[in-house]
Amino acid sequence: MKISVQKYDPSVDEAPYVKEFEVEYRQNMTLLEALVAINDEQEPIVFDYSCRGRTCGRCAMALNGQPCLACVTLVSENGANEVTALPGFPIVRDLIVDKSMMNDRIANIMARQRAFPLTLDEINAPVDPVIYNKMDPLEHCARCGVCVSACPTVQLMGQKEYIGPAGMLAIGLRYYDPYDQGDRVVEAVQNGLWNCIQCSTCDEVCKALEIDHQVIWKDLRAAAEARGLVKKA
Ligand code: SF4
Ligand code: SF4
Ligand code: FES
Repeated sequence: MKISVQKYDPSVDEAPYVKEFEVEYRQNMTLLEALVAINDEQEPIVFDYSCRGRTCGRCAMALNGQPCLACVTLVSENGANEVTALPGFPIVRDLIVDKSMMNDRIANIMARQRAFPLTLDEINAPVDPVIYNKMDPLEHCARCGVCVSACPTVQLMGQKEYIGPAGMLAIGLRYYDPYDQGDRVVEAVQNGLWNCIQCSTCDEVCKALEIDHQVIWKDLRAAAEARGLVKKA
């Protein structure tokens, strides 16, 4: 099986370049397994992984231009296997990208906003199952960045103008959070809620199958609309 891998060391290379490898194919071989084989047996490649099962989000990259998680993406025995770093993020080295802008913004959002600390009654109160069912799936986001890379609005406007699906999801999580006292509806609008074209690409590429992005977008839009926070044409 042929596989081409993007390589780039900014300390010595002027630009990323592609190197071809031949790897012994086996049925249902994942991209991660192919990269490990090259790294172990042929030539070092800088990439990252941990869980091997769509949980840690560390193996995000692109195969044939499609953002994906290498651990759950199959390579093709006879077709094209062109591996590149995750598009839309600055490359650090080979297949490693810098996700710090995305992660910093998400970390800020995820910090629960409260005027006063939680009371004991609030801490001991049973969890409302409706709220639990809204929030729990969102906790499965691995912050892999695959949805951000694939989002056409991020591609058009950049992450500064549109926070992207992973960041909007974090806003949604705190919007559902009954203990959060921040104005998450205004935050969603300020971060580009109305720029999302509701194309569902984020749902198609996300391997955290528990998450339904469109439901979150719908809930946030309804709340924004109810307060007149609608984008003027
Ligand atoms: S929403 Fe899905 S694709 Fe996006 S960062 Fe989270 S886990 Fe990755
Ligand atoms: S639905 Fe919105 S957030 Fe998701 S990929 Fe499309 S434009 Fe981006
Ligand atoms: S290795 Fe953890 S998501 Fe792929």
